[in-house]
Amino acid sequence: MPATLIDGKAIAAEVRSEVKASVEEFVGRYERRPVLATVLVGEDPASQVYVANKHRACEETGMESRHVALSQEATQEEVLDRVRELGADDSVDGILVQLPVPGQVDPDPVIVSIPHWKDVDGLNPYNAGLLASGSPGMVPCTPAGVIDLLVRTDVEIKGSRAVVVGRSNLVGRPVASLLLDRDATVTICHSKTEDLAGECREADILVAAVGIPGMIRADWVKPGATVIDVGINRTDDGLVGDVDFGPVSEIAGAITPVPGGVGPMTIARLMANTLTAAKAREERSGG
Ligand code: GUN
Repeated sequence: MPATLIDGKAIAAEVRSEVKASVEEFVGRYERRPVLATVLVGEDPASQVYVANKHRACEETGMESRHVALSQEATQEEVLDRVRELGADDSVDGILVQLPVPGQVDPDPVIVSIPHWKDVDGLNPYNAGLLASGSPGMVPCTPAGVIDLLVRTDVEIKGSRAVVVGRSNLVGRPVASLLLDRDATVTICHSKTEDLAGECREADILVAAVGIPGMIRADWVKPGATVIDVGINRTDDGLVGDVDFGPVSEIAGAITPVPGGVGPMTIARLMANTLTAAKAREERSGG
């Protein structure tokens, strides 16, 4: 029997409408709207689209947004200066620096320069440390979105075997921590894993976040498993995930499509994090 399709678009719309309702409560209470600032260095067309989508989502959920555009040639100091300005700006609740940045800019000091309470991407080492120690602060958006998809489609995480393919700071590591927090038995696989196919076949929940089109094959998947495809790969055939979707959907119990699976959840979670940052600021200032 073909797998159930996990409709990320519909679930993201649900999350965004919950955030919108909470934003209106926030506005009623604090007489202002939450504010997200985005920083884009360079002119990468895909990044421009992602950032534009984030601004549109702010508008839809009743939040304000600002944008800082820096040139492809911006120096490390220029980027740091602009991020620090946003960090010190009391009218900004959340800061997101779109990744990747051009080669002359090291992203790590830039991420560190975002105050952890404005780090709506959850990538600052302070937030990464909280997550790794089992008491999450600001949680990275894509991993949080993956958990939302599982929870909102009633996938049992507790006691399950979860296999995460990929160990990036953006997805693999944080999603593994979140699954562990929910009592899954978690294996993280990567490019040096021996018998990757065999590890994947053990998974009740298989999360693919490697950036290799169609890498996860049907014979790597346990019948009935839930398969979450975080990959967004641009190929001659258009956008494809890390999972060989057609054949795998004949084996899996449930699967996310690409596009329309995890992607929309990232933005929905970014909106939720921005609202969380705004509320935390008001609570700190006794508002
Ligand atoms: N580029 C791709 N995904 C992300 C993300 O979640 N956050 C940021 N800042 N950049 C990205």
